[in-house]
Amino acid sequence: MLVLGIESSCDETAAAVVEDVREIRSNVIASQIATHAPYGGVVPELASREHLDRIAPVVARALTEAGVRLEQVDGLAVTQGPGLIGSLLVGISFAKSLAMVAQKPIVGVNHIEGHIYSVAFENPPVAYPALALIVSGGHTTLFLMPEEGRYGVLGRTRDDAAGEAYDKVAKLLGLGYPGGPIIDRLAKMGDPRAADLVFTLPRMDSPNLDFSFSGLKTAVLRYVREQGIEPVANGDQPDQTIVDLVSSFQEKVIRSLLARLRTAMQRHKPRTIILAGGVACNSALRKAVDDEDFGAPVYYPSPVLTTDNAAMIAAAGYAKLIRGEDHGFEFTASTSMKIENVVMKGYEVPLKARYKV
Ligand code: KG4
Ligand code: ZN
Repeated sequence: MLVLGIESSCDETAAAVVEDVREIRSNVIASQIATHAPYGGVVPELASREHLDRIAPVVARALTEAGVRLEQVDGLAVTQGPGLIGSLLVGISFAKSLAMVAQKPIVGVNHIEGHIYSVAFENPPVAYPALALIVSGGHTTLFLMPEEGRYGVLGRTRDDAAGEAYDKVAKLLGLGYPGGPIIDRLAKMGDPRAADLVFTLPRMDSPNLDFSFSGLKTAVLRYVREQGIEPVANGDQPDQTIVDLVSSFQEKVIRSLLARLRTAMQRHKPRTIILAGGVACNSALRKAVDDEDFGAPVYYPSPVLTTDNAAMIAAAGYAKLIRGEDHGFEFTASTSMKIENVVMKGYEVPLKARYKV
């Protein structure tokens, strides 16, 4: 089965052709980083305009590189949400018009579910129950999956997402956008124990596996003020104080992610761990995960499939298309689209409040 995937939820215009969920025939990604970098973050209006310019050539290239014509595709999958409304609408409208012309089924895919499927390509099949930690610019959520396509939320961020914290800290220090890859590179040259970052976490019930990153971000800000650190100007090389600071910040982020992962492992004993989303690109996080024995294999995607792409959307869409789903032309963008949170017998999560994701 050939699936054409389209992703435009944030600042990447992407299209991919995937065959039978495991083989990527093409994977085209047009990044808008250069457009948004001067602003230190994504400017929604600029993002949707650029998606409009890029979507047709990106899809055409994905088909050409895959060596298939639109008529040969068996179905389409497009990101329905969550994301920026103007950005989502470009991908959805374009995908619908292709489905209409080619008379093919089309399914809307949750972007977070897409990230979970990003491990489908380069790893052995996922064994269930599985644990999935999705760490991206917009989300930090830990799921327990009793079987494919069913998600129980064990914890999620109470405030900033992990990637958002990277981006905000980088912006605060004048390091550039997006912050994750820049801090990843700099942190290698720093001492993670050099900066004493003092912060308190919001009260969390002990059985709860929620995350919080805004206290850490504020601690970085306080440290910058107390130490009189000046942000880097115009792409200058940051000094050692800043390098040590970002290294210390990163160490705290990784420690927080691993602590929840460990607890969830002990509690639920899954057979596979999925680590996905933009922050899963982080080399120190991957090393820390590789160095630890969690009692189950950890699957993560290669870097190009870790940040936003359409191959993962096609893979998630395949699971729906193969079941005969066709969402037709009535569905539309959902900026805060939720994954249905299943309540699992035998896997009860002792939360005071049940979360929607
Ligand atoms: O998954 P993604 O491409 O988009 C969302 O769905 O949000 O994730 C983007 C996020 C950004 O916040 C970016 O700074 C972060 O992932 N990121 C990283 C790294 N590469 C990207 N964070 C830490 N280390 C990296 N190497
Ligand atoms: Zn994403």
